[in-house]
Amino acid sequence: MNYKHIIVKPDYDKHIALIQLNRPKALNALCLELMIEIKDALTILDDDDSVRVIILTGNERAFAAGADIKQMAGKGAIDMLNIDQFTTWDKIKKTKKPLIAAVSGFALGGGHELVMHCDMVIASETAKFGQPEINIGVIPGAGGTQRLPRTVSKNVAMEMVLTGDFIDAQRAYEVGLVNKVVPVELYLSETVNVAKKIAEKSPIAVRMAKESVLQSFQSSLDDGLMFERKNFYMCFASEDQKEGMNAFVEKRKAVFKGK
Ligand code: CAA
Repeated sequence: MNYKHIIVKPDYDKHIALIQLNRPKALNALCLELMIEIKDALTILDDDDSVRVIILTGNERAFAAGADIKQMAGKGAIDMLNIDQFTTWDKIKKTKKPLIAAVSGFALGGGHELVMHCDMVIASETAKFGQPEINIGVIPGAGGTQRLPRTVSKNVAMEMVLTGDFIDAQRAYEVGLVNKVVPVELYLSETVNVAKKIAEKSPIAVRMAKESVLQSFQSSLDDGLMFERKNFYMCFASEDQKEGMNAFVEKRKAVFKGK
């Protein structure tokens, strides 16, 4: 899997794949080509049975400083409409496997929105999160105004979107944007630890669980409960459910095969 703007390691650790954004000179600004590469890599990894969890990361200085402003600066509305970059993002949103963001440095604008496409976030103490689009005369375009208030409070979302101010890792943790904050030298290894924990579970149950949690953002409570119930029943069609419950009864560690 050779790409120009990202590095992909399908077997970074057992059942764990890693995608690293790799435009360091531009602070990993998300040019259109980079986003297409992420979408392509995720499609391949999502279809690969040996992969159970996918980590998305940048480098110590930046996860990503947003969409590529230099690429967008001269565009008009119809150019943007025709480029239709957000259909690429829609595919990322549909990734079935758990996506964990390992964030250090800047996660801004589209970079922060990409973080919010992930299911969990591990941040280094140096991470900074923000939606600074307001400073350049636009608003978030990859879901920032919708996902942020669903993740933090309306007021924190308004603060970030209207002032463009960055928040540091500690505040991001306090408002619920990140799961854990660790020293910078540990942010990737700690993400791998979390990924390993998930990779040991039944991939079928993990998929049903991810789908069900995400469904809560788009349905009424009753519809969501029905969706969850169907996915719960679906787990009983798997060998992994038998293995998991038998292993509990037999007092041994379950070995899940994703069948
Ligand atoms: N697009 C293109 N290039 C970018 C970029 C971006 N979003 N962010 C940084 N860069 C480039 C800079 O132009 C610079 O390149 P040169 O060396 O060729 O000049 C290089 O990365 C390093 O950046 P700085 O010199 O600015 O580094 P700094 O440490 O002084 O500042 C920063 C860092 C605060 C992150 C600053 O770069 C910055 O404010 N970047 C823009 C952040 C932003 O506005 N993001 C939102 C983009 S719009 C968007 O994302 C829309 C959407 O919703 C999809």
